[in-house]
Amino acid sequence: MISEPPARPPLDAARATRATLLPGVRVEVVAEAPSTNALVAERAQAGAEEGLVVVAEHQTAGRGRLDRTWETPARSALTFSLLLRPTVPLATWPWLPLLAGYAVDKALKAAGFEASVKWPNDVLLDDRKVAGVLVERVETPAGPAAVVGVGLNVGMTAEELPVPEATSLAVAGGVDLPDRTDLLLGLLASLWESYTAWQEGGELAAGRLAESYAAACATIGRPVRVQLPADRTLCGTATGIDASGRLLVEHDGETTAVSAGDVVHVRADV
Ligand code: BTN
Repeated sequence: MISEPPARPPLDAARATRATLLPGVRVEVVAEAPSTNALVAERAQAGAEEGLVVVAEHQTAGRGRLDRTWETPARSALTFSLLLRPTVPLATWPWLPLLAGYAVDKALKAAGFEASVKWPNDVLLDDRKVAGVLVERVETPAGPAAVVGVGLNVGMTAEELPVPEATSLAVAGGVDLPDRTDLLLGLLASLWESYTAWQEGGELAAGRLAESYAAACATIGRPVRVQLPADRTLCGTATGIDASGRLLVEHDGETTAVSAGDVVHVRADV
C-alpha cells in the first residue's frame, strides 16, 4: 500500500516576518537555499546587522557539525540561521554553541516536549537527536560575527529520518504537532532571550548559563564514548562542563577536557 505523503503547510511568512514580534530580530523566509548558514555569513560580510534571521523552507545543502551534511525534505523541518555580533570577549564565544543548544531545548520544553541536550548542543527526545546546532565564526568588515544555525526535525516521517539515532517531533509524538510558525517564533524568542541575558549580564549571567546548561545536559553523569578528531576515541564518564564549556570526561583515573568531538551516550547496562 502506498501511504499518503504528510500535509506540509508552508510557514506563515507574514506573521514570522512582522518586525514588532521580536524587537531586535528581523526574519526573512526564503523558499529554498543551499545553506542558511552560508547565506547569513554572506549577508554578515556585506554588513547585515545583528538579529538577521534567514529561514529556508527547503535547505538543499545544509552544513552540519564536524563536516557533516544536514538535509531535510521541504517544509518538514525548521532550518534557519541567526546573525549575532557579540561584544563579549572572544575567549567566551565557545559558550555560544552551548547557549544555542540550551535555548532550543528550553523552547521545546515550553512546547511540551521532554527534551534534553547532548553535549555540546544536540537536542534529544527519547535519547534520539531531534535538533542540531552549527555555530560558525565569520570575519566581516565590522569585526568577527557568529552565525547560529539551527535544524529541527518537525514533521519528518520515520522513513525520512537520515539515521536510526535521529527523530522528529512527529515521530517522537506524545504532544500534538505544533505549528511550525509558532515553533519558529518560540525558538527565536528563547535564543534571543538567552543570548541577550548572557551578552549583557557579565559574569553573573555567565555563571547562570553554566548552571542552566548543566541542568539541561543529559550527558553529565553518563558513561560516554567520545569520537575525537584524528580518529581517536575516549571512553569514560562525563562528570561536568568546565569554565570554557568543555566536557570533562573521567577515565583511567584522570580527567580530560574535551573541546570538540562527537559524544555517544553509552547505556550503563551494555
Ligand atoms: C549538526 O550537525 O548537528 C548541526 C546541524 C545544523 C543544521 C542547521 S540547518 C540551518 C543551518 N544551516 C546550515 O547549513 N546548517 C544549520
